[in-house]
Amino acid sequence: MTVDAAPRVALLGVHGFGRVHLDGLLRVAGTGAVRVAGLADPRPPDPDALERVRALPGGADVPVLADAAELLDRVRPDVTIVSTPIHTHLPLARLALAAGSHLYVEKPPTASMEQFRALVAEAAAAGRVCQVGFQSFGSHALAHAARLVADGAVGRVRGIGVHGAWVRERSYFTRAAWAGRMELDGAPVTDGALTNPFAHATASALRVAGVADDAEVAVELERYRVLSPESDDTAAARLTVDGLPIVVAVTLCAPDQSPPRIVVHGERGRLELEYTTDTLTGRTADGAEVSGPPGRAPLLDNLVAHLADPAVPLLAPLAACAPFMHLLEAVRRDGPARPLPAEAVVLLDGRPVLPDAAALVRDCAENLSLFSELDPPWPAARGALAG
Ligand SMILES: NC(=O)c1ccc[n+]([C@@H]2O[C@H](COP(=O)([O-])OP(=O)(O)OC[C@H]3O[C@@H](n4cnc5c(N)ncnc54)[C@H](O)[C@@H]3O)[C@@H](O)[C@H]2O)c1
Repeated sequence: MTVDAAPRVALLGVHGFGRVHLDGLLRVAGTGAVRVAGLADPRPPDPDALERVRALPGGADVPVLADAAELLDRVRPDVTIVSTPIHTHLPLARLALAAGSHLYVEKPPTASMEQFRALVAEAAAAGRVCQVGFQSFGSHALAHAARLVADGAVGRVRGIGVHGAWVRERSYFTRAAWAGRMELDGAPVTDGALTNPFAHATASALRVAGVADDAEVAVELERYRVLSPESDDTAAARLTVDGLPIVVAVTLCAPDQSPPRIVVHGERGRLELEYTTDTLTGRTADGAEVSGPPGRAPLLDNLVAHLADPAVPLLAPLAACAPFMHLLEAVRRDGPARPLPAEAVVLLDGRPVLPDAAALVRDCAENLSLFSELDPPWPAARGALAG
């Protein structure tokens, strides 16, 4: 592809995770496979980021604006990356579609199922594709795990458990007005551990299970908060699809951070996938050890390859997020998470933590159980869990 024919890509949101997108965009632009059409964020980019944009061929003319609508109207990009707060995804995606642009929207794609269905319909009506930022969908190890499951390599799957124990400082929840909120100014935001940082956990487990886009998904939830102002920072969900239980148990209040893990419980084997490190281990029914192919295909590169040749499948198309959106919609309807009592929490270097949360979420994933079905190691929390 000549540089002049390379798609022009705009980025909305340049701070937070937008910085990761900017780095990715500059990397692909450096190969000539895309051109930077422009950046928009009410907060100007950091000087070093701007310097790298300006250093590109033609970079001196790249518009960097505060207002996304003005940018889209001015540059009419081929592709728009939306890496902004969750509740702004749909309005910004609509502006991008109106400007004739394809989309790369961060996860979760929208703040409700109603918004999701609207975006699916409107992108289809506009004849534009939408990649969603579930970057683990580009993982070769995840694809291998899904193939093994589909081929029956671990026998019938009894269930899938996912456990995640991460550390988030108070500043994570104070960095923006929408952080940890279910709603803002009456509009859904649906930001929480299950729907935002650990959205990948559920989406990846659903993909490993081979759940169809139009599958019926029943959702049970237990959602709690320690640090979060409104939504969950510690939660367990059980999704049931065609009788298959998928349990996702997570916390952002762990004393230490460890990579989240998807555990496939087969009747004749077991797989474990760390979806953030693309590490796959386990044993199949015939006793063979499993190890994953390393690496992953970046989603921007995949989107560009798909636009050049539609025979290249999109790795994280919007429609494939429907099963995950059943979880998000259940969380939205569930409302604010329940506060855990102060006695459940200890201070570690001034940060409130749940001392045994990592073991508890692991037990949930091993037993395919919700918190209340185990013996929670937070004695003071038992009443809250049972109540
Ligand atoms: N794929 C991943 O692993 C991953 C990781 C983190 C966050 N995310 C997602 O990325 C998105 C952004 O999250 P964040 O944590 O970076 O948020 P943030 O609030 O920290 O940063 C968002 C940025 O968008 C800007 N912004 C807000 N409204 C805007 C608008 N109308 N036009 C242009 N820019 C606007 C803000 O000024 C800010 O710079 C969310 O959807 C989040 O779920 C994805």
